[in-house]
Formats: sequence, C-alpha cells, structure tokens
Amino acid sequence: MPRPCNVVVLLSGTGSNLQALIDSTADGESSVRIAAVIANRSDAYGLQRAQAAGIATRVLEHGDYQGRDAFDAALMEAIDGFDPQLVVLAGFMRILTPAFVRHYHGRLLNIHPSLLPRHKGLHTHQRALEAGDTEHGCSVHFVTEELDGGPLVVQAVIPVHSQDTAASLAQRVHAQEHRIYPLAVRWFAEGRLQLTDAGPQLDGVVLPATGYPINSKETPCAAP
Ligand code: GRF
Repeated sequence: MPRPCNVVVLLSGTGSNLQALIDSTADGESSVRIAAVIANRSDAYGLQRAQAAGIATRVLEHGDYQGRDAFDAALMEAIDGFDPQLVVLAGFMRILTPAFVRHYHGRLLNIHPSLLPRHKGLHTHQRALEAGDTEHGCSVHFVTEELDGGPLVVQAVIPVHSQDTAASLAQRVHAQEHRIYPLAVRWFAEGRLQLTDAGPQLDGVVLPATGYPINSKETPCAAP
C-alpha cells in the first residue's frame, strides 16, 4: 500500500468534523493519516476526541503571542513538525495571515457552513433564513487569502423547510459536513484532487463537484 497522506487538523471547538475524519480512517486501510490535531484553545473538545483516538495534540494559545504574525509563525512551525501533505481547518476560529495561507497554498482545506459564495463569515444559518433561501448547505474549498473565498471543491445542498430554525438548519448542514469533508480529504490523499492554475481538479476534471445526492454513498459527479 502506498504511504498514507499525513494530515494536520486545526480546530478551536467541538471537533465533530474531526470525529468524522477519524471515523473515516478507522478501517486501518485509509489513505489518510491524521498526524496531529492543533488547537488555539486548551478547552477545545476536539482535543479530547483526538486523544481518545491516540492522535498527537498541541495547543498554541493565540493570547500568548504578540499579534497574528507571531502566532501564525509559531503555528506553521508546529504544523510543519508533523510533515503534513495536507492541513485541514475544522472549525478553526482564527483569521490566517497571508504568509500562512501562501505557505500552505494548494494543501490547505476549509469547510464552511453555507453554499459559498453565499453567506461568507459567521451566522450562516440565520442569514440563509433571513434571506429566504430555499436551499442551504456546506462547502469544502481550498483556502486563499480571501476569507471563505477560495476555490470550491465540493458542496452538499439541503432544502430549507418553512418550519426550519437556525438550529435545525445547523443540525442538518452539520450532518452533510461530516460526509463531504472526509470525502474531499480522501480525494486529496489519493492524489485525485489538486489545486491547479485552472482551479481545483478531481481526476483531471475541473471542480466544484455537484450533484452529490444527500442519501447516497456514491461519489459526486464533477461539474463539467
Ligand atoms: C462547522 O460548522 C464548520 O463548517 C465551521 O466550523 C464548524 C465546526 O464544527 N467551519 P465542529 O467543531 O467540527 O463540530
């Protein structure tokens, strides 16, 4: 079997997306190896999930550093100590400096709880309701210097029902996040997903992937 792809996960909170990634690698034959989980808060529950799975953890409290540049420099050093081919943002609530984003160009993924480019930033579920959206969802994208603006890899779409609240949307979107994030990470680990000058490509076809049926385990179709 080829060597697995080393992945470092950054998070600040609950880490349910981390758990989905851990679960997706549990069969022992995965192309993905989660080398470390790094948090900017020592109380992030995701650290406990990592420890329970035997994954190395590090905490870098951003308050201990003199500004963003110093924090991001220390973060890069910590990440690179694990020699990752891919860095995965899983609810990491820090704005990253351009130097950080450039350093991991083409190997830094994020998941965002909206159908980007709609609803960048925070409170996406409430904003989807207020905008009267009939569809909502989540997006995996490569990270660039534009916040939540990097090229899209895959999205999952859910319908918005008339009785939906921000909480009910969050719950259904989260369930979809747990499906598409491990999928995108696996594509990358298998060498099928790359960020090229033409944009992200899956098996040589330009993304984003669309048409991923909510209740199917099928691989989504890449958009032409
Ligand atoms: C998710 O909603 C993700 O889209 C956003 O941060 C949240 C993290 O949730 N980037 P969790 O900590 O993985 O449960």
